[in-house]
Amino acid sequence: MNATIENLADHFQAKVDAEVKIEPKDWMPEKYRKTLIRQISQHAHSEVVGMLPEGNWITRAPSLRRKAALLAKVQDEAGHGLYLYSAAETLGISRDELVDQLLEGKAKYSSIFNYPTLSWADIGSIGWLVDGAAIMNQVMLTRASYGPYARAMVRICKEESFHQRQGYEILLTLSKGTDEQKAMLQESVNRWWWPALMMFGPNDAESTHSEQSMKWKIKRKSNDELRQQFIDACVGQAEFLNVTLPDPHLKWNEERGHFDFGDIDWEEFWEVVKGNGPCNRDRLKARRKAHEEGAWVRDAAMAYAGKRVESRE
Ligand code: 3HC
Repeated sequence: MNATIENLADHFQAKVDAEVKIEPKDWMPEKYRKTLIRQISQHAHSEVVGMLPEGNWITRAPSLRRKAALLAKVQDEAGHGLYLYSAAETLGISRDELVDQLLEGKAKYSSIFNYPTLSWADIGSIGWLVDGAAIMNQVMLTRASYGPYARAMVRICKEESFHQRQGYEILLTLSKGTDEQKAMLQESVNRWWWPALMMFGPNDAESTHSEQSMKWKIKRKSNDELRQQFIDACVGQAEFLNVTLPDPHLKWNEERGHFDFGDIDWEEFWEVVKGNGPCNRDRLKARRKAHEEGAWVRDAAMAYAGKRVESRE
């Protein structure tokens, strides 16, 4: 049969609607492929850049137990980046190309990683709020229509939920500590709350990709739906920590069955996305340095791979 693009597209959408996973060798619309490369690579970059704010505290963790957990967590983020780069590669783009886009400042990564970690409590807040927001968004992605992405997300989510709990436990310990520790906890939550809400992306009305991505079942819930779900989950957790979320408009709305909340500073969000956040320049500088300093490892690995091929010939 001589299938036209149109009936290929219909067949593709019917598969998506029937919850049949799309695999790398299946026909897919070019825009679906591009959307996935965009989203998966932005996600991979976020994981890799996301190592930096926490890596900053490895040498200053308050105990050996905390240091070991933090080290493991940061290492997990590197692993997540690798699974995601591998998933993106199945769509016909090379890892080198993706990494170059990041290092040249052409690729986006999550706004949240452009904020500084100023106190030990920030490691707890990142676990609770940043990983918590990430999980809320990523659990949905375990059901994404593209097989390699969905499968990578299953493992990532398992690890993320450990990360979230280790962060919450740090905060729980501080919440039972001295007045100084309680103040450190509150100050940290004050700084991370709003940027964590921004992680879900612009409001639905401003989101350029949501509608199509939801039709393709790459995204299952909209940015605003997930943000609301996250806020609703956090309120009780904040009470348990005896911490105040820095939003005077946060109030239960019986009619909606959700918490109402104040306005997000979208100007700040777009400034950070454009590269003008508190740490954007430092983050890219650190990634470039790590890439340059790791050149010998890549060269050695390639030389070894070449030798193995030669010895088989
Ligand atoms: N930071 C930076 N850019 C953002 C952003 C954010 N928080 N939210 C949205 N954007 C960008 C989008 O990338 C898009 O830009 P582009 O057109 O140049 O690619 C633009 O803003 C418009 O946003 P849309 O809502 O239309 O974009 P999406 O449909 O892609 O939705 C998303 C945004 C919800 C973040 C979606 O891409 C997604 O679910 N991505 C996968 C998850 C992910 O990347 N999470 C990042 C955090 S990972 C993490 O936290 C690691 C963990 O270890 C802590």
